[in-house]
Amino acid sequence: MNGIAPVITVDGPSGVGKGTLCQWLATRLGWRLLDSGALYRLTALAAQRRCLPLDDESSVAAVAAELAVEFSAGTDGVLHITLDGEEVSTTIRSETAGNAASQVAALPQVRAALLQRQRDFRQRPGLIADGRDMGTVVFPDAQLKLFLIADTGERARRRHKQLSENDMDVSLAALEREIAERDARDVQRAAAPLTPAADATVLDTTAKSIAQVCEWAWRQARQRLQIPTNHRD
Ligand code: DC
Repeated sequence: MNGIAPVITVDGPSGVGKGTLCQWLATRLGWRLLDSGALYRLTALAAQRRCLPLDDESSVAAVAAELAVEFSAGTDGVLHITLDGEEVSTTIRSETAGNAASQVAALPQVRAALLQRQRDFRQRPGLIADGRDMGTVVFPDAQLKLFLIADTGERARRRHKQLSENDMDVSLAALEREIAERDARDVQRAAAPLTPAADATVLDTTAKSIAQVCEWAWRQARQRLQIPTNHRD
């Protein structure tokens, strides 16, 4: 492929399976991965550490613009994230961090401050971009746009399992409530609301296994990016 590096965008609400799919696609294609949600989580964490109210738009945007963050894949293949030199990979995955991220993500100046940082991830051989507005705002010219959806109850169950595996104890009912609140905020906000791009392909993952979702995405990628059928199959 000539010119600019190709991008596959994967958008949708939390707990829908985007993270797993994106990791799988990035490994399979040997492409870079952008976890844009992590940037909003890191911004919220950095703002809280500076004792800033999360609705102080210009101050939080200034924090976003100067975020001292590093993403690196460890020898274990797991993504390690450091903020101001401190490993925060686990800290930013909590529900509290997710809710704080959703609050700062509603602020247009914060989104603007993170825009170019996200676009800079677009490098050869290609990028898998995971988020809410990857296909609509950050990479509107992406070669392939996928949008995943799933029932709220199912997403809460998946998230509960994930948190329990990481020894984080949250009740399922509370989780379902928080997911619904976060969805409402992400969908209803004026700046880059969560919505599929007009040219996105939507998949309901409620009754699908991870393998089925990956297989579906791989078929779409192969068609759209003209990947030969013998590509590591
Ligand atoms: O994907 P995640 O759960 O890590 O995202 C955390 C929050 O960040 C989510 O509630 C909405 C926000 N977000 C966003 O507004 N735009 C993105 N591209 C990614 C995340």
